[in-house]
Amino acid sequence: MRLLFLGDVVGRSGRDVVIENLPGLIQRYKLDFVVVNGENSAGGFGITEAICDDLLAAGADAVTLGNHSWDQREALVFIERQPRLLRPLNYPAGTPGRGAGLYKARNGAEVLVINAMGRIFMPELDCPFRAIDAELEACPLGSGADAILIDFHAEATSEKESLGIYLDGRVSCVVGTHTHVPTAEDRVLAGGAAYMSDAGMCGDYNSVLGMQPEEPVNRFLTRIPKGRMEPSLGPGTLCGLAVDIDPKTGLATNAQALQLGGALRQRKIEFWE
Ligand SMILES: [Fe+2]
Ligand SMILES: [Fe+2]
Repeated sequence: MRLLFLGDVVGRSGRDVVIENLPGLIQRYKLDFVVVNGENSAGGFGITEAICDDLLAAGADAVTLGNHSWDQREALVFIERQPRLLRPLNYPAGTPGRGAGLYKARNGAEVLVINAMGRIFMPELDCPFRAIDAELEACPLGSGADAILIDFHAEATSEKESLGIYLDGRVSCVVGTHTHVPTAEDRVLAGGAAYMSDAGMCGDYNSVLGMQPEEPVNRFLTRIPKGRMEPSLGPGTLCGLAVDIDPKTGLATNAQALQLGGALRQRKIEFWE
């Protein structure tokens, strides 16, 4: 079973590179399931209903969020009628939307997707480890779901690695988002969970985290905001993690970072070529 995860889509450059390439990738690699993090897809801040629909139309089976979930206020409303849009599971009780969803993949498998947020250098939320435990208890790998993917939206690598090790053997994949830079340790952990600390963003890498550099550099130099953060509009790189899953166990047999287009070194998915 073939699963692709794409990291934070930032602004128009990120949307363009995803929407232009995802349908072809699905066809070329016969992908069974695709998850895209869309927390920065609307001008770098949040997601609109129209953009969410565009990502789904391009082939995403689920769209995840993060600390920017509500930057576009309309997301608080339309998330209630869009079951394929997930916000972090560990927000306070009563938060609109849902943090986990069970979806049918193109090969017929049931895939559980969970979006959770870390707590180091992030807003204070419920414990992500325990929140995920409760979801996995309700829908375990094997009896409840054929594959399970966790998008862990967090800043600290220590927290991401700890969650990966903690969940190893119980899920198909733990992939990090939020830092907007892909890490180089794409791999399968000892217990069969595909793991990568950060998938990297889909967006223009000639930037600061996908934003035009002038304002972030100015804020570091002067501590005085001069203007708005605006997304960089150069050619985007599509960044993500490809995971091959044994359909009998739901565990990963292979995992590799994908990087396509734009300014980064190009990486195809070798084990599917
Ligand atoms: Fe992000
Ligand atoms: Fe984020």
